[in-house]
Amino acid sequence: MSLKGKRIILGVTGSIAAYKAAHLTRLLIKSGAEVQIVMSTSALDFITPLTLSTLSKRPVLHQFQKDETGEWNNHVELGLWGDLFLVAPASANTLAKFAHGLCDNLLTATYLSARCPVMLAPAMDLDMYQHPAVRENLKKLQSFGNHILDAESGELASGLSGQGRMMEPEHIIERLDAFFSPKRDFLGKKVLITMGPTQEAIDPVRFISNHSSGKMGLSLANAFKERGAEVYVVSGPIALSVDQGQFHWINVRSAQEMFDAASSLHSKMDLCVFAAAVADYAPAEPATEKIKKSEDELTIHLKKNVDIAFSLGKIKKPHQLHVGFALETENEVQNAQSKLEKKNLDLVVLNSMKESGAGFQVDTNRVHIFHRNGTSVSSTTAPKEEIANLILDEIKKAPVWV
Ligand code: PMT
Repeated sequence: MSLKGKRIILGVTGSIAAYKAAHLTRLLIKSGAEVQIVMSTSALDFITPLTLSTLSKRPVLHQFQKDETGEWNNHVELGLWGDLFLVAPASANTLAKFAHGLCDNLLTATYLSARCPVMLAPAMDLDMYQHPAVRENLKKLQSFGNHILDAESGELASGLSGQGRMMEPEHIIERLDAFFSPKRDFLGKKVLITMGPTQEAIDPVRFISNHSSGKMGLSLANAFKERGAEVYVVSGPIALSVDQGQFHWINVRSAQEMFDAASSLHSKMDLCVFAAAVADYAPAEPATEKIKKSEDELTIHLKKNVDIAFSLGKIKKPHQLHVGFALETENEVQNAQSKLEKKNLDLVVLNSMKESGAGFQVDTNRVHIFHRNGTSVSSTTAPKEEIANLILDEIKKAPVWV
């Protein structure tokens, strides 16, 4: 396992688990990382800066002003220096401050300035860990894109036993290693992703569409790319900033255009993921000129759009794998599962409009993935990047793949 050259800002907060920060620092240094430790004020009651600076081979920072020189510890520079900001242990108090943007010490200021990914390893007593306020803060922090290293179960400092122990340093190192050395398990595979909404013209200035932002599809495209695939994206109109150059990227507007683009690529693909929210209906005869306001009521006659997943499912070859999504508001599981057969999918990913932090627009999702062979897996609410990687892991379990 190597973290050679990786710059880790290790935040240590006031928790009895702060003693584990010493062992964690040793493991980080042993695996080749550069470690800059920042302590919260209350962490000083639990472990000395001397211990941590000796192990990290750098001065430990815990106040805005350097003692000897009166110089300023620049939290903005610090936030830019790191490849990763890891807070272990993360106390309930610091999590609450992070969740609400409070900035009363060098550690919280560094968090707000950090541009790098953030991992948080909570540590607290079991009842505190389950308290709705803490659960809410963790959910909020996750929705900001932070990675939560879930507390482990076992004996706690209070004498109670349950979930609340900081993740063991060895496990944290494993998570960091996986984070920095993504698998290349889709190398050589060609993947098509449909994503975003479609827009169906009513007249030259108006259209029918939906709330898809393209975030889920883009997270999938990024995950496939990182894991070695050659990625073809057919995207409806989105407002995300994307480096399109790293993909074969086709912009489309309507369902028909999306179908035409996807069909032209389909035969050379190994894998297709239909993440787009395609409008099921479109105005039958879009007006060529802007419709003028005249009558009190206006009727727009709609016709059914082509179903892309269904049509391509009919010509799917035995070596090809199709993944569909289901966005439901009722009879969710039943409706999702029926799409497996109807659209000849190998996997269907259900995201519910009823779950908070899931579906349209948000940065997180919560999914239930159903395989054709009847097995299924459910996720927690997690950043769409994480959900994308879970979907890729499930794809590899499909019979076509193994
Ligand atoms: O873009 P975000 O804001 O991140 O939101 C993500 C998402 C909620 C849009 C995404 O996760 C999602 O669920 N996409 C599919 C939404 C949808 O249209 O579901 P559906 O149940 O109506 O369609 C079922 C499947 O058939 C989907 O794979 C869909 O892409 C496909 N389909 C549907 C209609 C159609 N005419 N052609 C299709 O290919």
